[in-house]
Amino acid sequence: MRKNMIAGNWKMNTTLSEGLALAKGLNEALKDKTLKCNVVIGTPLTHLASVVAAIDTTKIGVAAQNCADKEKGAYTGEVSAAMIASTGAKYVILGHSERRQYYHETAEILKTKVIQALANGLTPIFCIGEVLKEREDGRHFDIVDEQIKASLFDLSPEDFGKLTIAYEPVWAIGTGKTATAEQAQEIHAHIRQTIATQYGATLAENTTILYGGSMNAENAKDLVAKPDVDGGLIGGASLSVEKFLPIVEAF
Ligand code: 13P
Repeated sequence: MRKNMIAGNWKMNTTLSEGLALAKGLNEALKDKTLKCNVVIGTPLTHLASVVAAIDTTKIGVAAQNCADKEKGAYTGEVSAAMIASTGAKYVILGHSERRQYYHETAEILKTKVIQALANGLTPIFCIGEVLKEREDGRHFDIVDEQIKASLFDLSPEDFGKLTIAYEPVWAIGTGKTATAEQAQEIHAHIRQTIATQYGATLAENTTILYGGSMNAENAKDLVAKPDVDGGLIGGASLSVEKFLPIVEAF
């Protein structure tokens, strides 16, 4: 059976001391609770080791927001999947639309990043999603299919089974405009079907598919109530315990 997950993506926010305070606050808020989902926080790379040391990582998983597409060597400024794993982080967000758009990460680059992450025991949270024009043109199903196929469908079933997918319509990210629960369900079911066609129904049923894009305390319950929406990838609302906690408790 697939697991539910609520993951925070802090993006390029918080200094180290701010990030530590946020992680510790969340740790404190969750410590006596029985959780119905996996909880993950995606911190800046500079925070990973300190955050891992400051929280109960059996309760809150820690994610990087990127990793290098190379194993190691003369790649100034890059941080490898092995380095991330060595901090105790267990996840890495890959393929986020901001990385595709601003840092020109292609499907081919993302494919190599996924391979690096898996080789180092990290769980990729792999993001896909269409821009507004693509949805208006009715191409959103084709776009997510292309993104999945181009970066992920060369993986063995065993490796594909280690991934978490995050559907994030670009028009809903940071805009306050959320996909309706019905829109999310429709495309999540489609994504699951695409996975089933390649890897079979069982693996598709076992794949966790998150929704991301202006998810908040108000809309989280409706979204996660849908059968194919297994949780969320949260940006803005993951930056405070008061906003993030009700989303974790939406299940
Ligand atoms: P917002 O929740 O701020 O819209 O961001 C979503 C996102 O990009 C998570 O990765």
